[in-house]
Amino acid sequence: MLKDHLQKLQQHDTPLYVYDLELLRQTLAKAQSESSKYGYQVHYAFKANTNAPVLAEVKAHGFGADCVSGNEIKCAIENGFSPDHVVFAGVGKSDAEINFALDKDIFCFNCESLHELAILNELAAAKGKTARIALRINPNVNANTHKYITTGLEENKFGINAWELPEVLGQLKELENLKLTGLHFHIGSQITDLSSFKNLCTRVNEFQEWFLSHNVELEHINVGGGLGVDYYHPDEQLIPDFEAYFSLFNQFLEVKPGQQVHFELGRSLVAQCGTLVSRVLYIKHGKTTNFAILDAGMTELIRPALYQSYHKIENLSSNQPENKYDVVGPICESSDCFGKAVLLPETNRGDLIAIRTAGAYGEVMTSQYNLRDKAQVLYLNQ
Ligand code: LLP
Repeated sequence: MLKDHLQKLQQHDTPLYVYDLELLRQTLAKAQSESSKYGYQVHYAFKANTNAPVLAEVKAHGFGADCVSGNEIKCAIENGFSPDHVVFAGVGKSDAEINFALDKDIFCFNCESLHELAILNELAAAKGKTARIALRINPNVNANTHKYITTGLEENKFGINAWELPEVLGQLKELENLKLTGLHFHIGSQITDLSSFKNLCTRVNEFQEWFLSHNVELEHINVGGGLGVDYYHPDEQLIPDFEAYFSLFNQFLEVKPGQQVHFELGRSLVAQCGTLVSRVLYIKHGKTTNFAILDAGMTELIRPALYQSYHKIENLSSNQPENKYDVVGPICESSDCFGKAVLLPETNRGDLIAIRTAGAYGEVMTSQYNLRDKAQVLYLNQ
């Protein structure tokens, strides 16, 4: 509980990202034990959080790295992840990024278009190398999540569409510096309705049959990430239900003999261990509402402004009777609001406010808009 650390927090400048490394360890251990029941391999999605102490725990629990830029690959290697456990996805890999990944001999490029395959082949040929690739297929499965983080529908820019596959297989015969080793899927993020993953399994099984009928055997199937977390009741589900998640894949995904199954989890591993702590600067009484104006804003946590996402907000300093507040930041944008009509104990200047479930896509998405300073960081239970 963050309240137990109140004295320590009071000594820190804010805005402050606080990470509970003990909760992170427990989360990683559970994900690792549930996935290894079925021999599954998890690559941690670096985009969720790349702080070195977080990565050290991820690595210590035996996860690989799912990267979407050359710098993420560099960061993975610098933090001790072996290149054989690095996968590289993204619709727009630059030549420099591809060359860097080729030089490092990463495990696999997840390729998203016919054009990318041709360029990757050209760059690999120039180095006299063969790149291991997986085809990222757009399975046209609805993830039932926010439209900005839905990726597996035909209207989205991601992946190769089913109708392009015959042409892709034809081209691959000519592309001598590519070795097709797997298929890759990712339907979206913050998925809480597990039936979306069941639908994904059904589609993956169909694609596997199609490839087999064309005499293509695949060494691995990568089903991406996307498992959601409970933003509304973080304390009731600090650790996501990895047991149900992995057992669903075990039940519905048809795995061929000798085939490996890979996952790319980000949010579910790191979201709950992070909290954005902020101080109240001012209380302003509006016509219909009170504003609690914080020293943190959308520059520190953009999710509410960008996806209208809910984060639980708590006042760590006050036990007074409750009142309603619009909790807002200091940035010159009306979207700079963490929550409207939030019930909080009577709130005053100097109170510490916790914005929960901020460990994933929080600090990594900060900006220096308004020339803001970067938030401070504190690790608990290091
Ligand atoms: N694999 C691929 C190919 C992805 O695009 C993503 C996330 C993941 C794995 C990891 O997904 P996760 O397990 O974390 O759901 N900024 C947004 C989330 C963007 C997710 C992008 N892709 C947010 O704050 O909700």
